[in-house]
Amino acid sequence: MSSRINHRKFFLFLLLAQFSRAFVTINVARPSPTCRPTSDVPRRSRTSTNDRLYVIPLSKFSDSMTFLSKEVGDEYRCCIDSNGRFWNNDDDRYYELGIVEEQDLPQLCKFVVATFGADAISLSTNMNNLERMLLNPAAEFLNGYSNLVAFAEVYSGTRQRILDRIQHNNNILPPSLDGLSPQEKITKAERDSLILILSRPNAYASNQELDIIATIELRLQPCDAKIPFSIPWLDRVERRMGSMIGLGADRGASDLQPYLSNLCVSDKYRGQKIGRALVRCVENITRTCWKYNRIYLHVDEDNIAALKLYQSEGYRDVGHRWNPFWSGRAADIGYFVKTLS
Ligand SMILES: CC(C)(COP(=O)(O)OP(=O)(O)OC[C@H]1O[C@@H](n2cnc3c(N)ncnc32)[C@H](O)[C@@H]1OP(=O)(O)O)[C@@H](O)C(=O)NCCC(=O)NCCS
Repeated sequence: MSSRINHRKFFLFLLLAQFSRAFVTINVARPSPTCRPTSDVPRRSRTSTNDRLYVIPLSKFSDSMTFLSKEVGDEYRCCIDSNGRFWNNDDDRYYELGIVEEQDLPQLCKFVVATFGADAISLSTNMNNLERMLLNPAAEFLNGYSNLVAFAEVYSGTRQRILDRIQHNNNILPPSLDGLSPQEKITKAERDSLILILSRPNAYASNQELDIIATIELRLQPCDAKIPFSIPWLDRVERRMGSMIGLGADRGASDLQPYLSNLCVSDKYRGQKIGRALVRCVENITRTCWKYNRIYLHVDEDNIAALKLYQSEGYRDVGHRWNPFWSGRAADIGYFVKTLS
């Protein structure tokens, strides 16, 4: 009897550990030294005010895209100048657009959690019915530590998504998918996001602390009108089931397309066209550097600010939605696409 109970407890423990692991990577606080960037790309911005940045300035890549060029013009870039800078009128110092490095991740994740709010990220709210059913025991337990979990979740997820990029020449090029099988392409793309931030060194901190005021992410992912599960294997199972029974879009999951996500601007700096500028910047990279002519995104239909921004930039509803009965609230999310000229 007691051994049966122990087995049951052990099984429950394994189950919880497995699902918790999907969200919170154990080595969250210990970034691996092997993930340090090795490229010959300049690591820091050598300017008088920004010389403590780890961030790689976007201006280093002006040959691979046109966003910062004269032909694009100041009006299109909104508040960003041709050096990739946003000048803050309050103190006459600038924030610079750049690619995030591994060392900047803790600051970035703090910013994302603070801007989106821990509640939006904590485990049980963002899940669909199936995830909720599978994960609720672990989620209930972990949600007691909402902020910590939100940070750990964002940190480990973000780090996973840029792992390949920071290991191999952190730059703005698209993931290299030549010669890979469809499944290998998806796995590679999942670890090769490009994350831009608008930031500058904190004027008062003695260490290399960053003030981040905005961020945006670009990656390749299957775009069959389905928001990905936060658990990759479950995502794969659902997509496979979907394609077998004819749910989702016509194209298969192997059709990877550029996907814009995680746009956020600090409260204090909203309404100054930073959001619009970042969307345009990522679109420009997609078109001129990644050589794709479509870009996808999803947005909560009650997020009026974001919805208006995307619609005014020409994004249109894809018109079909991955909406199986188990998708729950995930089906309330608007799924948009824009054709880039
Ligand atoms: C959505 C968000 C990124 C917009 O950033 P922003 O820099 O303030 O936006 P911009 O100043 O570039 O505004 C561009 C357009 O968006 C729309 N918009 C922005 N804020 C708005 C608001 N509060 N209400 C209605 N529309 C708004 C307007 O159409 C605006 O154009 P206009 O100034 O010509 O009227 C910002 O509000 C934010 O970070 N929100 C929290 C995170 C989030 O929800 N991200 C989106 C995830 S999909």
